[in-house]
Amino acid sequence: MMLLSRTMCCALLAVVLAGAEVGAAPYPTALINIDARDATDLSGKWHYIVDPLKMGVTRANSRRYAVFQDVAGPENQADFLEYNFDASPRMLIPGDWNGQDVSLTWYDGLVWFRRTIEIDELRAGRQFLHFGAANYKALVYINGEKVGEHEGGFTPFAFDVTENLVVGQNSIVVGVDSEHNSSSIPSPVVDWKNYGGITRPVHLVSVAESYVHDYFVRLDSDGRMRADVRLGGGKVGNRTVRVDIPDLGIKLRGKSDQSGSVTFAVDAPDKLQRWSPATPKLYDVIVSAAGDQVSDKIGFRTLAIDGSNILLNGEPIFLRGISIHEETIGAIPSRAMNEARARELLSIAKQDLNANFVRLAHYPHAAIMTRIADELGLMVWSEIPVYWDIDFENPDTLATAKQMQQENIIRDRNRASIVFWSVGNETPQTDVRLAFLEELISDVRQLDATRLVTAALHRVRNEGRANVVDDPLGKLIDVVSVNTYQGWYGNMSLDRVPGVEWRNPSGKPFLFSEFGAGALYGFHDADMEKFSEEFQAEYYRVTLEMASKVPGLSGLSPWILKDFQSPRRMHGRFQEYWNRKGIISPQGHKKAAFFVLGDWYKELASRGGISE
Ligand code: GCU
Repeated sequence: MMLLSRTMCCALLAVVLAGAEVGAAPYPTALINIDARDATDLSGKWHYIVDPLKMGVTRANSRRYAVFQDVAGPENQADFLEYNFDASPRMLIPGDWNGQDVSLTWYDGLVWFRRTIEIDELRAGRQFLHFGAANYKALVYINGEKVGEHEGGFTPFAFDVTENLVVGQNSIVVGVDSEHNSSSIPSPVVDWKNYGGITRPVHLVSVAESYVHDYFVRLDSDGRMRADVRLGGGKVGNRTVRVDIPDLGIKLRGKSDQSGSVTFAVDAPDKLQRWSPATPKLYDVIVSAAGDQVSDKIGFRTLAIDGSNILLNGEPIFLRGISIHEETIGAIPSRAMNEARARELLSIAKQDLNANFVRLAHYPHAAIMTRIADELGLMVWSEIPVYWDIDFENPDTLATAKQMQQENIIRDRNRASIVFWSVGNETPQTDVRLAFLEELISDVRQLDATRLVTAALHRVRNEGRANVVDDPLGKLIDVVSVNTYQGWYGNMSLDRVPGVEWRNPSGKPFLFSEFGAGALYGFHDADMEKFSEEFQAEYYRVTLEMASKVPGLSGLSPWILKDFQSPRRMHGRFQEYWNRKGIISPQGHKKAAFFVLGDWYKELASRGGISE
């Protein structure tokens, strides 16, 4: 949960006391679109101190262990201090610690990071310290004073540090604890490597005293273009707000209400070119108010459902997808995405695999991924890591999930590529889970009524040769998605897979959100032993044959594009802590199955229409 900094609390108090118009409008989520703002990138080498016993937290009152004070330095040698950042090693931020220090390959715990910044003069307006993400809990200090903390490993957060900065050297200390527990989202039990650290960029963002905090500009199914804009900072009420889309000749003008919000609606001009995988058109959108101005590139399209069809811009579309974990290509992969690495992964999907859809599993990926998906023309499944069995009865866990989902949606809801918000993966069919997810679905509807809600289900009822999908969650979501591994897990032989039937009594659009088999790249076996490329290729052939017969199937996102690191995959010959279900190897080599799927998608795309 993000705490308000002293400044924000004071500002809030001042407003309450003054009874004047609502002043600093502190929102529960960070200001958006950092790359378009006056932001200083704090990437680079930061000093770090590994704190296995969390002494900097448990003994925070002891000068010897108050790591966040960062007082260690020549002038303080008189005090016996148990740390000294200047004498500590450095690692690259953004970046996980696992791949940068071999002693931290599987470390799960607390690490302190520090860098300093020189401030020549204190600027007018407000200064925010913004993090793209830090996994899992972050404690943030400026010049020894705590400015806030955040829980959640994959979404942005920011603190107003205007009052904390001084002219001269400023010390930024961030404690990142990657440890998950029984109440966290996800729980500690996941099938991926829990990369720890400040895994996404850090910026010091300067904005005007009153600034554009966030906005949502989109095309609604009624043919109207709408824009919701929220201002932040002081004096947010009764300000002139402008939204311009020059190439469409759209100039919206309005006044913010007392809370700093304003909504616009206008008929979409006939010349609007809608976004789609085939025509990923993006428009320049400029949002300005109170001396602040933020530019963005936004695509406009509509989504709807007609029976078992998903309609993109009014036409049925088949999702030719692939699942992707956030992990770079290479023998020592990283969680830290950048434009080149994101483009590398997504271009393989778009160009080599002929996909038009990616499931960005199992958590919100870096913002750059959905920006590149917008540009390349890939529809996106975005999800929060409500994964397997979490503590569905714990109100704190629900609060964390709601906050994480809100952070994800507010950050990305201007991305035309995103078509689904997913609220869970393979969660147990219990009443408490249903109530928990119902809350999350209700929040999605509030935050973004334009997109479809889904979840990856996995429990099906067998009726003879048929799998019947009757999870009660199916009644609450728009698109019923199922993970299936028949032919890999369990004892079904591959020759029986094409005969498996599926029934989806909901009649809603139906996706296979996962299916896959492991293969060690370069391991070949004519008898198709499991983990051979031949087995994986045959598994794809028979599973795609099964899929092609499923009535109402609207798409698939097989598991998974690339082998990925996982502590659960311990087989000494075939896995060595890699989940081998990728259709490309860690270094990006295509396995035989890649071409089976790619050919199937190419043939589908060649039919045009439904599989554009
Ligand atoms: C599950 C799960 C994935 C996991 C996969 C597997 O469906 O959703 O996170 O990696 O199966 O077993 O490989």
